[in-house]
Amino acid sequence: MRKISSHSGRTYSDRRWKMPFLISLLVSITLFMITMFCFYSSYNAGDELEVKVISLSEQEDSNDYFVESDLKKSLRANDDQSTEPPRFAYLISGTKGDSQRMLRTLQAVYHPRNQYILHMDLEAPPKERLDLTISVKTDPTFREVENVRVMAQSNLVTYKGPTMIANTLQAIAILLKESKNWDWFINLSASDYPLVTQDDMLYVFSNLSRTLNFIEHTQLRGWKLNQRAKPIIIDPGLYLSKKSELAVTSQRRSLPTAFKLFTGSAWVILTRSFVEYCIWGWDNSPRSILMYYANFVSSPEGYFHTVICNSEDFRATAINHDLHYIAWDTPPKQHPISLTLKDFGNMVNSTAPFARKFRKNDPVLDKIDKELLGRSNRFAPGAWCIGSSEGELDPCASRGDDSVLRPGPGAKRLQELMRNLLSEDSRSNLCSA
Ligand SMILES: *[C@@H]1O[C@H](CO)[C@@H](O)[C@H](O)[C@H]1NC(C)=O
Ligand SMILES: *[C@@H]1O[C@H](CO)[C@@H](O)[C@H](O)[C@H]1NC(C)=O
Ligand SMILES: *[C@@H]1O[C@H](CO)[C@@H](O)[C@H](O)[C@H]1NC(C)=O
Repeated sequence: MRKISSHSGRTYSDRRWKMPFLISLLVSITLFMITMFCFYSSYNAGDELEVKVISLSEQEDSNDYFVESDLKKSLRANDDQSTEPPRFAYLISGTKGDSQRMLRTLQAVYHPRNQYILHMDLEAPPKERLDLTISVKTDPTFREVENVRVMAQSNLVTYKGPTMIANTLQAIAILLKESKNWDWFINLSASDYPLVTQDDMLYVFSNLSRTLNFIEHTQLRGWKLNQRAKPIIIDPGLYLSKKSELAVTSQRRSLPTAFKLFTGSAWVILTRSFVEYCIWGWDNSPRSILMYYANFVSSPEGYFHTVICNSEDFRATAINHDLHYIAWDTPPKQHPISLTLKDFGNMVNSTAPFARKFRKNDPVLDKIDKELLGRSNRFAPGAWCIGSSEGELDPCASRGDDSVLRPGPGAKRLQELMRNLLSEDSRSNLCSA
């Protein structure tokens, strides 16, 4: 076909070129006119453009031209204080053999105002996960209030690896999606236990600014910086289906210069606005720091800390405490001491609302139930439990108004801790130290 047409084209080209030439001339002229018209109209709007260029050079006003500033405004709008008591969103996580402990911790921190999500990692046999799910599904209170969930997806979680962060972020994402009105996210494991009732916590937190994040933090420096930040680790949990140890590569990397590294306790109490900042990611820094931490040993002890301390908007909201009582050997070993009856006094005197770690069914848990939480049935009772408590009856079997709170001695202890933490001299912000 092509051959034939080129042949005939050559033959008749002398006479036939005029028609295409005229058409293309017409098209060119039309395009030229359109271009001129557009140029002319934008020239007329030139005044406006110039104003924009000028104001871009002024720092405060220039922010208004970028999408992020609108997002920040909506963030601040969330900050205004509501007079209702707050709500917490708890993640309780565990592994093989932890289902009973997870249920016990869940019952001890249960309150109808809050949200709960349970995660059993992939090491737990399917049967155990199923049992946990059935226990949650068959509890009449959980069924009615619908505020307890078991994560259907079970993740492989490596101790000290980035898979732990990934799992925490996934749980937060579900909590954000499922419930619109919680104020703080709290991270617990099966070996944690509360030392105050939820009525105590909600009562004391009612009086706090809902912008405060409780995250123990300090800047990584000196030998620790080299020891932590230079090795490159790989978490096989990211791509293998069986659990194995973190792998350390023979290569080392240089220290970051784009941001400073912080470290601290892996137990955190974070505001909704801060976790939205981390999950929704309209600022790129939480995401790039997350990618950096993928090869960092002990990333759960650094990710949120580094994000918050490098963020201008959130830096000042970091309170340097994880609200846990944790006891260590001297000198400290890798894991904290398992708390027993002899630690009870120190635990109470610490004024912390949570403690760890506890062995399964350790007698000290019964003492905490009896003396601190008043828990003899399923839940640590609060003002929302309006049933009869005669004999063996469970007062929480009938549910009253959950915004009524009955603070006890635990609220006094927690209030004292908050007073100390928020007093001027102890609020030295270690983010910028
Ligand atoms: C959250 O809680 C778990 C306890 O199961 C802990 O090991 C983990 O490091 C915590 N922190 C983060 C940031 O995931
Ligand atoms: C709230 O804070 C104020 C002042 O900081 C204090 O006087 C008051 O007792 C607190 N109330 C509660 C419920 O904690
Ligand atoms: C706890 O505090 C009380 C009162 O200050 C004190 O009498 C008690 O000895 C303390 N207990 C421990 C274990 O430190």
